[in-house]
Amino acid sequence: MEQQEIKDYFSTELLSWYRLVKRDLPWRTNRDPYRVWVSEIMLQQTRVDTVIPYYNTFMSKFPTVEALAAAPETEVLKCWEGLGYYSRARNLQAGAKEVVERYGGIVPDDKASVAGLKGVGPYTSGAIMSIAFNRPEPAVDGNVMRVLSRYFCLEDDIAKPSTRIGIEKLAASLIPEGAAGDFNQALMELGALVCTPKSPSCLPCPVMEHCAARLNGRETELPIKTKAKPPRPEFRAAAIVAGSGENKGKILVRQRPATGLLAQMWELPHLLLTPDKANWLDEKAPKEQGELAELLGRMLQEDTELLIRPRGWFTDADHIFSHIHWRMRFYLADLGEEPGVLEATTAAALETDSLAAESATKYEVNQWPEHYRWIGKEDMDSLPFPNLFLRILKQYWE
Ligand code: ADE
Repeated sequence: MEQQEIKDYFSTELLSWYRLVKRDLPWRTNRDPYRVWVSEIMLQQTRVDTVIPYYNTFMSKFPTVEALAAAPETEVLKCWEGLGYYSRARNLQAGAKEVVERYGGIVPDDKASVAGLKGVGPYTSGAIMSIAFNRPEPAVDGNVMRVLSRYFCLEDDIAKPSTRIGIEKLAASLIPEGAAGDFNQALMELGALVCTPKSPSCLPCPVMEHCAARLNGRETELPIKTKAKPPRPEFRAAAIVAGSGENKGKILVRQRPATGLLAQMWELPHLLLTPDKANWLDEKAPKEQGELAELLGRMLQEDTELLIRPRGWFTDADHIFSHIHWRMRFYLADLGEEPGVLEATTAAALETDSLAAESATKYEVNQWPEHYRWIGKEDMDSLPFPNLFLRILKQYWE
Protein backbone atom coordinates (compact mmCIF):
# COMPACT_ATOMS: atom_id res chain seq x y z
CA MET A 1 0.00 0.00 0.00
CA GLU A 2 1.24 3.50 -0.84
CA GLN A 3 2.11 5.84 2.04
CA GLN A 4 -0.72 8.21 1.04
CA GLU A 5 -3.23 5.36 1.17
CA ILE A 6 -1.95 4.36 4.61
CA LYS A 7 -2.50 7.95 5.76
CA ASP A 8 -5.95 8.19 4.18
CA TYR A 9 -6.97 4.90 5.76
CA PHE A 10 -5.87 6.21 9.17
CA SER A 11 -7.79 9.49 8.85
CA THR A 12 -10.99 7.93 7.52
CA GLU A 13 -11.17 4.98 9.90
CA LEU A 14 -10.23 6.99 12.97
CA LEU A 15 -12.81 9.68 12.26
CA SER A 16 -15.64 7.16 11.70
CA TRP A 17 -14.68 5.29 14.86
CA TYR A 18 -14.72 8.49 16.91
CA ARG A 19 -18.13 9.52 15.62
CA LEU A 20 -19.51 6.15 16.70
CA VAL A 21 -17.89 5.75 20.12
CA LYS A 22 -16.98 9.21 21.39
CA ARG A 23 -17.58 9.81 25.07
CA ASP A 24 -20.23 12.19 26.22
CA LEU A 25 -18.01 14.71 28.01
CA PRO A 26 -19.21 18.02 29.48
CA TRP A 27 -16.98 20.12 27.19
CA ARG A 28 -18.43 18.38 24.15
CA THR A 29 -21.99 19.67 24.62
CA ASN A 30 -21.29 22.64 22.33
CA ARG A 31 -18.34 24.40 20.66
CA ASP A 32 -18.23 27.54 22.80
CA PRO A 33 -14.53 28.52 22.53
CA TYR A 34 -14.40 29.54 26.20
CA ARG A 35 -15.65 26.11 27.28
CA VAL A 36 -13.16 24.41 24.98
CA TRP A 37 -10.34 26.60 26.26
CA VAL A 38 -11.09 25.87 29.94
CA SER A 39 -11.34 22.13 29.23
CA GLU A 40 -8.05 22.00 27.35
CA ILE A 41 -6.21 23.83 30.13
CA MET A 42 -7.68 21.51 32.78
CA LEU A 43 -6.89 18.41 30.72
CA GLN A 44 -3.17 19.26 30.54
CA GLN A 45 -1.37 16.67 32.70
CA THR A 46 -4.71 15.58 34.18
CA ARG A 47 -6.99 12.62 33.47
CA VAL A 48 -10.48 13.08 32.04
CA ASP A 49 -12.16 11.41 35.05
CA THR A 50 -10.39 13.77 37.44
CA VAL A 51 -11.22 16.83 35.35
CA ILE A 52 -14.99 16.26 34.92
CA PRO A 53 -16.20 17.36 38.40
CA TYR A 54 -13.75 20.28 38.48
CA TYR A 55 -14.86 21.37 35.04
CA ASN A 56 -18.54 21.31 35.97
CA THR A 57 -17.98 23.32 39.13
CA PHE A 58 -15.71 25.78 37.34
CA MET A 59 -18.20 26.37 34.52
CA SER A 60 -21.08 26.92 36.91
CA LYS A 61 -19.04 29.38 38.94
CA PHE A 62 -17.46 31.15 35.96
CA PRO A 63 -19.83 30.52 33.04
CA THR A 64 -18.38 33.23 30.79
CA VAL A 65 -15.03 34.84 30.01
CA GLU A 66 -16.28 37.97 31.74
CA ALA A 67 -17.18 36.09 34.92
CA LEU A 68 -13.75 34.50 35.08
CA ALA A 69 -11.95 37.77 34.33
CA ALA A 70 -13.82 39.56 37.12
CA ALA A 71 -13.41 36.89 39.84
CA PRO A 72 -11.02 37.28 42.79
CA GLU A 73 -7.93 35.16 42.17
CA THR A 74 -8.35 33.15 45.38
CA GLU A 75 -11.82 32.07 44.23
CA VAL A 76 -10.35 30.79 40.98
CA LEU A 77 -7.58 28.98 42.86
CA LYS A 78 -10.14 27.53 45.27
CA CYS A 79 -11.98 25.98 42.31
CA TRP A 80 -8.66 24.54 41.13
CA GLU A 81 -7.68 23.22 44.58
CA GLY A 82 -6.50 19.61 44.29
CA LEU A 83 -5.97 19.71 40.50
CA GLY A 84 -2.34 20.83 40.81
CA TYR A 85 -0.25 22.93 38.41
CA TYR A 86 -1.93 26.06 39.75
CA SER A 87 -0.17 28.38 37.31
CA ARG A 88 -2.65 26.97 34.77
CA ALA A 89 -5.49 28.61 36.71
CA ARG A 90 -3.69 31.92 37.08
CA ASN A 91 -2.71 32.00 33.40
CA LEU A 92 -6.23 31.06 32.35
CA GLN A 93 -7.61 34.00 34.31
CA ALA A 94 -4.94 36.31 32.88
CA GLY A 95 -5.96 35.08 29.41
CA ALA A 96 -9.63 35.74 30.20
CA LYS A 97 -8.74 39.30 31.23
CA GLU A 98 -6.89 39.78 27.92
CA VAL A 99 -9.91 38.53 25.99
CA VAL A 100 -12.18 40.97 27.82
CA GLU A 101 -9.82 43.93 27.48
CA ARG A 102 -8.53 43.38 23.94
CA TYR A 103 -11.25 41.40 22.21
CA GLY A 104 -14.43 42.63 23.89
CA GLY A 105 -15.01 39.33 25.69
CA ILE A 106 -15.08 37.24 22.48
CA VAL A 107 -12.39 34.57 22.10
CA PRO A 108 -10.70 35.58 18.82
CA ASP A 109 -10.92 33.07 15.99
CA ASP A 110 -7.47 33.61 14.54
CA LYS A 111 -4.57 31.45 15.50
CA ALA A 112 -2.02 34.16 16.24
CA SER A 113 -4.35 35.91 18.72
CA VAL A 114 -5.30 32.66 20.46
CA ALA A 115 -1.66 31.54 20.60
CA GLY A 116 -0.78 34.91 22.15
CA LEU A 117 -3.05 34.40 25.18
CA LYS A 118 -1.34 33.70 28.49
CA GLY A 119 -0.89 29.99 29.15
CA VAL A 120 -1.83 28.96 25.60
CA GLY A 121 0.96 26.97 23.91
CA PRO A 122 1.02 25.25 20.51
CA TYR A 123 -1.06 22.28 21.70
CA THR A 124 -3.79 24.39 23.30
CA SER A 125 -4.02 26.88 20.45
CA GLY A 126 -4.35 23.97 18.00
CA ALA A 127 -7.02 22.36 20.17
CA ILE A 128 -9.04 25.59 20.48
CA MET A 129 -8.74 26.49 16.79
CA SER A 130 -9.75 23.01 15.66
CA ILE A 131 -12.40 22.06 18.24
CA ALA A 132 -14.10 25.46 18.59
CA PHE A 133 -13.60 26.84 15.06
CA ASN A 134 -12.97 23.68 13.03
CA ARG A 135 -9.74 25.14 11.61
CA PRO A 136 -7.26 22.56 10.23
CA GLU A 137 -4.64 23.03 12.96
CA PRO A 138 -2.85 20.11 14.62
CA ALA A 139 -3.14 19.63 18.41
CA VAL A 140 -0.23 17.43 19.41
CA ASP A 141 0.27 16.40 23.02
CA GLY A 142 1.97 13.33 24.51
CA ASN A 143 -0.98 11.06 23.66
CA VAL A 144 -1.03 12.10 20.04
CA MET A 145 2.76 11.68 19.75
CA ARG A 146 2.39 8.15 21.11
CA VAL A 147 -0.40 7.22 18.68
CA LEU A 148 1.41 8.60 15.63
CA SER A 149 4.82 7.22 16.65
CA ARG A 150 3.24 3.78 16.77
CA TYR A 151 1.07 3.94 13.66
CA PHE A 152 3.96 5.22 11.52
CA CYS A 153 6.67 3.37 13.52
CA LEU A 154 8.61 6.59 14.22
CA GLU A 155 11.84 6.11 16.17
CA ASP A 156 12.53 9.75 17.07
CA ASP A 157 12.73 10.73 20.74
CA ILE A 158 9.42 12.43 21.57
CA ALA A 159 11.11 14.37 24.38
CA LYS A 160 12.89 16.44 21.68
CA PRO A 161 11.25 19.62 20.39
CA SER A 162 12.30 18.76 16.82
CA THR A 163 10.32 15.49 17.03
CA ARG A 164 7.22 17.34 18.18
CA ILE A 165 7.54 19.76 15.26
CA GLY A 166 7.85 16.85 12.82
CA ILE A 167 4.81 15.14 14.33
CA GLU A 168 2.82 18.39 14.17
CA LYS A 169 3.46 18.56 10.42
CA LEU A 170 2.44 14.93 10.04
CA ALA A 171 -0.70 15.44 12.17
CA ALA A 172 -1.68 18.50 10.09
CA SER A 173 -1.36 16.44 6.90
CA LEU A 174 -3.79 13.84 8.28
CA ILE A 175 -6.70 16.17 9.08
CA PRO A 176 -9.69 15.27 6.87
CA GLU A 177 -11.32 18.14 4.99
CA GLY A 178 -13.86 19.97 7.20
CA ALA A 179 -13.39 17.68 10.21
CA ALA A 180 -10.46 19.14 12.16
CA GLY A 181 -12.21 19.29 15.53
CA ASP A 182 -13.54 15.75 15.44
CA PHE A 183 -10.32 14.35 13.99
CA ASN A 184 -8.09 15.93 16.65
CA GLN A 185 -10.42 14.70 19.38
CA ALA A 186 -10.42 11.27 17.74
CA LEU A 187 -6.63 11.14 18.07
CA MET A 188 -6.90 12.12 21.73
CA GLU A 189 -9.67 9.58 22.30
CA LEU A 190 -7.68 6.76 20.71
CA GLY A 191 -4.65 7.64 22.85
CA ALA A 192 -6.76 7.72 26.01
CA LEU A 193 -8.90 4.62 25.46
CA VAL A 194 -7.09 2.24 23.11
CA CYS A 195 -3.51 3.14 22.26
CA THR A 196 -2.56 3.52 25.93
CA PRO A 197 1.01 3.91 27.18
CA LYS A 198 1.67 0.51 28.80
CA SER A 199 -0.50 -2.11 27.17
CA PRO A 200 -2.14 -0.89 23.98
CA SER A 201 -5.32 -2.83 23.12
CA CYS A 202 -4.66 -3.47 19.46
CA LEU A 203 -7.63 -5.79 18.84
CA PRO A 204 -10.37 -3.16 19.13
CA CYS A 205 -8.20 -0.47 17.49
CA PRO A 206 -9.87 0.99 14.40
CA VAL A 207 -6.53 1.43 12.59
CA MET A 208 -4.67 -1.71 13.70
CA GLU A 209 -4.62 -3.21 10.22
CA HIS A 210 -1.98 -0.77 8.96
CA CYS A 211 -0.31 0.16 12.23
CA ALA A 212 3.41 -0.16 11.49
CA ALA A 213 4.44 -0.67 15.11
CA ARG A 214 1.97 -3.53 15.54
CA LEU A 215 2.97 -5.11 12.21
CA ASN A 216 6.60 -5.02 13.41
CA GLY A 217 5.72 -6.23 16.93
CA ARG A 218 6.99 -2.97 18.38
CA GLU A 219 3.84 -1.39 19.83
CA THR A 220 5.06 -1.61 23.43
CA GLU A 221 8.54 -0.25 22.60
CA LEU A 222 7.28 2.93 20.97
CA PRO A 223 7.34 5.83 21.39
CA ILE A 224 10.99 6.38 22.28
CA LYS A 225 11.20 8.87 25.11
CA THR A 226 14.37 9.74 27.02
CA LYS A 227 13.81 9.97 30.74
CA ALA A 228 13.54 13.39 32.35
CA LYS A 229 15.87 14.16 35.26
CA PRO A 230 14.41 13.02 38.60
CA PRO A 231 12.90 15.90 40.59
CA ARG A 232 15.32 17.70 42.92
CA PRO A 233 14.63 16.94 46.60
CA GLU A 234 13.86 19.79 49.00
CA PHE A 235 13.68 19.20 52.72
CA ARG A 236 11.20 21.25 54.70
CA ALA A 237 10.06 21.40 58.30
CA ALA A 238 6.58 22.73 59.08
CA ALA A 239 4.60 23.58 62.20
CA ILE A 240 0.95 23.14 63.02
CA VAL A 241 0.67 25.93 65.56
CA ALA A 242 -2.39 25.73 67.83
CA GLY A 243 -3.75 29.11 68.90
CA SER A 244 -4.76 30.12 72.40
CA GLY A 245 -7.08 32.73 73.93
CA GLU A 246 -9.29 34.23 71.22
CA ASN A 247 -7.57 31.94 68.71
CA LYS A 248 -8.26 28.76 70.63
CA GLY A 249 -9.21 25.95 68.26
CA LYS A 250 -7.54 27.74 65.37
CA ILE A 251 -4.22 27.15 63.68
CA LEU A 252 -1.69 29.43 62.07
CA VAL A 253 -1.40 29.49 58.26
CA ARG A 254 0.25 31.83 55.81
CA GLN A 255 -0.17 32.88 52.21
CA ARG A 256 2.61 32.23 49.73
CA PRO A 257 4.17 35.09 47.76
CA ALA A 258 2.42 36.46 44.65
CA THR A 259 4.84 34.78 42.23
CA GLY A 260 6.57 31.43 41.92
CA LEU A 261 5.55 27.89 42.84
CA LEU A 262 2.02 27.69 44.37
CA ALA A 263 1.80 31.49 44.25
CA GLN A 264 -0.92 33.02 46.45
CA MET A 265 -1.96 29.68 47.90
CA TRP A 266 -2.14 29.05 51.63
CA GLU A 267 0.13 26.72 53.57
CA LEU A 268 1.39 25.71 56.98
CA PRO A 269 4.37 27.85 57.98
CA HIS A 270 7.60 26.04 57.29
CA LEU A 271 11.30 26.24 56.79
CA LEU A 272 13.38 25.15 53.79
CA LEU A 273 16.50 23.28 54.84
CA THR A 274 19.73 23.63 52.93
CA PRO A 275 20.73 20.35 51.16
CA ASP A 276 23.51 19.63 53.67
CA LYS A 277 20.80 19.33 56.36
CA ALA A 278 18.97 16.62 54.41
CA ASN A 279 19.81 14.01 57.04
CA TRP A 280 17.90 16.08 59.59
CA LEU A 281 14.77 14.42 58.31
CA ASP A 282 16.33 11.04 59.02
CA GLU A 283 14.63 9.44 61.99
CA LYS A 284 17.92 7.93 63.08
CA ALA A 285 19.29 11.32 64.06
CA PRO A 286 17.36 12.26 67.25
CA LYS A 287 19.67 15.11 68.22
CA GLU A 288 19.04 16.83 64.93
CA GLN A 289 15.29 16.48 65.47
CA GLY A 290 15.56 18.70 68.53
CA GLU A 291 17.72 21.18 66.66
CA LEU A 292 15.36 21.18 63.71
CA ALA A 293 12.32 21.84 65.90
CA GLU A 294 14.19 24.60 67.68
CA LEU A 295 15.30 26.19 64.43
CA LEU A 296 11.73 26.06 63.15
CA GLY A 297 10.47 27.76 66.31
CA ARG A 298 13.11 30.49 65.97
CA MET A 299 12.35 31.13 62.33
CA LEU A 300 8.61 31.38 62.91
CA GLN A 301 9.11 33.56 65.93
CA GLU A 302 11.21 35.95 63.87
CA ASP A 303 8.64 35.98 61.10
CA THR A 304 5.50 36.36 63.22
CA GLU A 305 6.70 37.91 66.50
CA LEU A 306 4.87 35.09 68.30
CA LEU A 307 6.49 32.71 70.77
CA ILE A 308 6.13 29.49 68.87
CA ARG A 309 7.08 26.28 70.65
CA PRO A 310 7.34 23.05 68.62
CA ARG A 311 6.12 20.25 70.93
CA GLY A 312 6.48 17.03 69.00
CA TRP A 313 6.53 15.22 65.71
CA PHE A 314 3.18 14.96 63.90
CA THR A 315 3.86 13.28 60.55
CA ASP A 316 6.08 13.17 57.47
CA ALA A 317 4.74 13.70 53.95
CA ASP A 318 5.97 14.02 50.38
CA HIS A 319 4.80 15.85 47.34
CA ILE A 320 6.32 15.75 43.88
CA PHE A 321 5.91 18.82 41.68
CA SER A 322 7.21 18.65 38.10
CA HIS A 323 10.82 19.52 39.01
CA ILE A 324 10.91 19.48 42.78
CA HIS A 325 10.26 16.79 45.35
CA TRP A 326 9.17 18.24 48.70
CA ARG A 327 10.04 16.01 51.66
CA MET A 328 8.38 17.47 54.71
CA ARG A 329 8.30 16.90 58.44
CA PHE A 330 5.40 18.34 60.42
CA TYR A 331 5.62 19.30 64.09
CA LEU A 332 2.81 20.16 66.48
CA ALA A 333 3.46 23.48 68.16
CA ASP A 334 1.79 25.92 70.49
CA LEU A 335 2.36 29.40 71.82
CA GLY A 336 4.77 29.97 74.70
CA GLU A 337 3.29 31.83 77.65
CA GLU A 338 6.32 34.00 78.26
CA PRO A 339 9.78 34.43 76.75
CA GLY A 340 11.59 31.14 77.21
CA VAL A 341 15.19 30.04 76.86
CA LEU A 342 14.97 30.45 73.14
CA GLU A 343 14.16 34.12 73.46
CA ALA A 344 17.55 35.12 74.84
CA THR A 345 19.44 33.24 72.19
CA THR A 346 17.31 34.27 69.20
CA ALA A 347 19.08 37.46 68.16
CA ALA A 348 22.54 35.95 68.36
CA ALA A 349 21.43 32.75 66.71
CA LEU A 350 19.80 34.56 63.82
CA GLU A 351 22.95 36.44 63.05
CA THR A 352 25.06 33.32 62.93
CA ASP A 353 22.53 30.90 61.57
CA SER A 354 22.51 31.36 57.83
CA LEU A 355 19.76 28.79 57.51
CA ALA A 356 17.29 30.70 59.61
CA ALA A 357 18.32 33.89 57.87
CA GLU A 358 17.75 32.35 54.47
CA SER A 359 14.25 31.22 55.36
CA ALA A 360 13.47 34.48 57.04
CA THR A 361 14.35 36.43 53.92
CA LYS A 362 12.41 34.03 51.73
CA TYR A 363 9.13 35.13 53.24
CA GLU A 364 10.34 38.52 54.47
CA VAL A 365 10.59 39.12 58.14
CA ASN A 366 7.79 40.79 60.08
CA GLN A 367 5.16 40.82 57.38
CA TRP A 368 2.57 39.94 59.98
CA PRO A 369 -0.36 40.19 59.75
CA GLU A 370 -0.53 40.26 55.93
CA HIS A 371 0.86 36.81 55.24
CA TYR A 372 -0.19 34.98 58.41
CA ARG A 373 -3.68 34.21 59.63
CA TRP A 374 -5.38 32.18 62.33
CA ILE A 375 -7.96 29.93 60.76
CA GLY A 376 -10.59 27.49 61.94
CA LYS A 377 -11.65 24.35 60.12
CA GLU A 378 -14.47 26.25 58.37
CA ASP A 379 -12.00 28.66 56.73
CA MET A 380 -10.66 25.73 54.74
CA ASP A 381 -13.79 26.12 52.59
CA SER A 382 -12.66 29.47 51.24
CA LEU A 383 -8.85 29.53 51.29
CA PRO A 384 -7.02 27.55 48.60
CA PHE A 385 -4.45 25.06 49.92
CA PRO A 386 -2.16 22.76 47.90
CA ASN A 387 -3.02 19.04 48.19
CA LEU A 388 -0.16 18.24 50.52
CA PHE A 389 -1.37 20.69 53.18
CA LEU A 390 -5.01 19.71 52.67
CA ARG A 391 -4.08 16.14 53.49
CA ILE A 392 -2.17 17.08 56.63
CA LEU A 393 -4.84 19.49 57.87
CA LYS A 394 -7.58 16.93 57.32
CA GLN A 395 -5.58 14.47 59.38
CA TYR A 396 -5.02 17.10 62.06
CA TRP A 397 -8.68 18.04 62.36
CA GLU A 398 -9.90 14.45 62.43
N1 ADE B 1 -7.46 15.42 26.36
C1 ADE B 1 -7.09 16.62 25.94
N2 ADE B 1 -8.10 17.24 25.30
C2 ADE B 1 -9.13 16.38 25.31
C3 ADE B 1 -10.46 16.44 24.82
N3 ADE B 1 -10.91 17.53 24.20
N4 ADE B 1 -11.25 15.37 25.02
C4 ADE B 1 -10.78 14.30 25.68
N5 ADE B 1 -9.57 14.19 26.15
C5 ADE B 1 -8.73 15.23 25.98
